Amino acid sequence: LVLWIITLAIAYLVGSIPTGYLLVRTFRNEDIRESGSGNIGATNVARSGAKGLGIATLILDALKGVLAVVIAQHMAQWAGFPNGYDLEAVAGLFAVIGHIFPVWLGFRGGKGVATAAGVFAALMPLTTLVCIGIFAVVFMLTRYVSLASIVGAVSLAILCIVFDTRRELIVDLVYVAMPLLVIAKHHGNISRLLAHTEPKFGTKPAA
Ligand code: G3P
Repeated sequence: LVLWIITLAIAYLVGSIPTGYLLVRTFRNEDIRESGSGNIGATNVARSGAKGLGIATLILDALKGVLAVVIAQHMAQWAGFPNGYDLEAVAGLFAVIGHIFPVWLGFRGGKGVATAAGVFAALMPLTTLVCIGIFAVVFMLTRYVSLASIVGAVSLAILCIVFDTRRELIVDLVYVAMPLLVIAKHHGNISRLLAHTEPKFGTKPAA
């Protein structure tokens, strides 16, 4: 139990590093939360005019997810757990929770897309690759990052449950919980998509 608590605390802390916020604060001395959609994620950083920082945010946020899973893997091995996959999956969930609810920003963080992608990539690489493909197709057809993220998140939950042969309840719950969190954080985007006011990538947001 102690190992679980320590691992999940580390995963939360890794996920909670507000990469996009820190990069924009450091290199442009701006608060990304006051720009565009107000989100601290890669999309909004790129939207603010900082394309390079947007890419850096995407990579670093995804790496947080990968790192949380890898740390959990090592912790499980170190403790001699025969099967550490459930700990890895839950640690991934905690990294996404950390990203979405970072203690450093009053628990108002990002939408978890890149971090969840990193977690899924570490847990189920091939399935994640397929879902990134689905994301890319939806994005290219619509130019809505948010819609592509939502469709990608749904496809990840479904395909991971289908293709993961372990059939562990706790892992399947993580496969559903992460996308649900990501989608819930897109509530503003969903309202805008329905109202046809969601900005397409490369155009200025409505508000
Ligand atoms: O990565 C989050 C993306 O799906 C939407 O971001 O800034 O358009 O709300 P944003």
